[in-house]
Amino acid sequence: MAILVTGGAGYIGSHTCVELLQSGHEVVVIDNFCNSSEESVKRVKKITGKSVKLYGGDVRDEKLLDRIFNENKIDSVIHFAGLKAVGESCAKPIEYYDNNLGGTLVLLNAMRTHNCKKIVFSSSATVYGTPKKLPLDEECEIGGTTNPYGTSKYFQEIMLRDVYNADNGWTVVLLRYFNPVGAHESGMIGEDPKGIPNNLTPYIAKVAIGELKEVGVFGNDYDTPDGTGVRDYIHVVDLAKGHVAAIDKITSAGVYTYNLGTGIGYSVLDVIHAFEKACGKKLPYSIKPRRAGDIAACYADAGKAKRELGWKAELGIDEMCASLWKWQTKNPKGYNGD
Ligand code: NAD
Ligand code: UFG
Repeated sequence: MAILVTGGAGYIGSHTCVELLQSGHEVVVIDNFCNSSEESVKRVKKITGKSVKLYGGDVRDEKLLDRIFNENKIDSVIHFAGLKAVGESCAKPIEYYDNNLGGTLVLLNAMRTHNCKKIVFSSSATVYGTPKKLPLDEECEIGGTTNPYGTSKYFQEIMLRDVYNADNGWTVVLLRYFNPVGAHESGMIGEDPKGIPNNLTPYIAKVAIGELKEVGVFGNDYDTPDGTGVRDYIHVVDLAKGHVAAIDKITSAGVYTYNLGTGIGYSVLDVIHAFEKACGKKLPYSIKPRRAGDIAACYADAGKAKRELGWKAELGIDEMCASLWKWQTKNPKGYNGD
């Protein structure tokens, strides 16, 4: 039996494929490469020495999904495919809802047709909106999202719960990621953002390599220890292992929700200084105004995943920065630099 990984060529998907293959699972990937390249899948094969069946195409393509389920014995799906840029989602809500909600609907329909009823879904800490308390546990209220991307994650969680409510034979695992960063220890796969990165750590890496001039720190007047934004950064390999735990440990029907984070909050300045250690040089930065829509602090109570999945993040901020620096220096132009 195989696991269908949608968006498996992407950042988190490629790292998850490595961990799945290394723990003995068979993997089938569908990706339309709208934010990735086939090269990442080639490298997953190189790292693991195992094969991956790859379908280039869109999860909204019903015929293609039908073919994939007919040609493979798929018993579960990990659904990463989707668009994820917060700012872009405000400018292109129709594209975001079409891709994220439309993709999930077509996928769920194909799964039902082929009697495949186990799905692990990439949700996000963004579904909590502005935290009313910290750390965030899975019982905290969700909704109150501030952009179409976040709202699409919230809606998708509701859609998946409704599917279970209508048919209690489904197994739905909602994984709420905090801030995934870093890269595989080989330096062969990593995050390859197009254009100027929106997220903090890829931006810092581009400053460190000399491609960008300085890091802009978005606000130093938040109610946090040093005034800069605090987040729960989680190593992408730990995150990937969280998916293997969800696949392996959850074997009975139901809806399960887990935060995947470390439980530790680091400020923007903490991350810049940790990266300075990793790359061995001082990094120029300057304080800029707050970024619209940002919250002061967000970090997880990661206890439920530990108790129920036996999973916890093992790698710290130094490993996150060192692995990102390795990926950046080995692939200064990302996958297309080859
Ligand atoms: P990514 O863009 O690297 O990966 C997504 C992959 O899905 C890409 O390879 C893209 O080409 C593919 N894709 C998009 N739409 C598709 C479609 N319609 N059909 C087929 N393939 C399609 O992003 P990522 O960081 O690896 O994120 C994976 C998932 O995790 C996303 O759903 C994202 O929203 C979610 N997530 C990411 C973060 C983060 O900070 N990276 C945080 C929380 C949740
Ligand atoms: N930041 C800067 N300068 C930058 C980029 C970011 O100071 O150039 C700051 C932000 O203001 C924030 C922190 O760094 O305080 C982290 O920002 P990111 O953009 O890296 O991440 P976010 O927490 O804003 O959002 C990320 C993903 C979302 C996801 C969320 C929670 O982009 O998709 O984590 O999982 F929903």
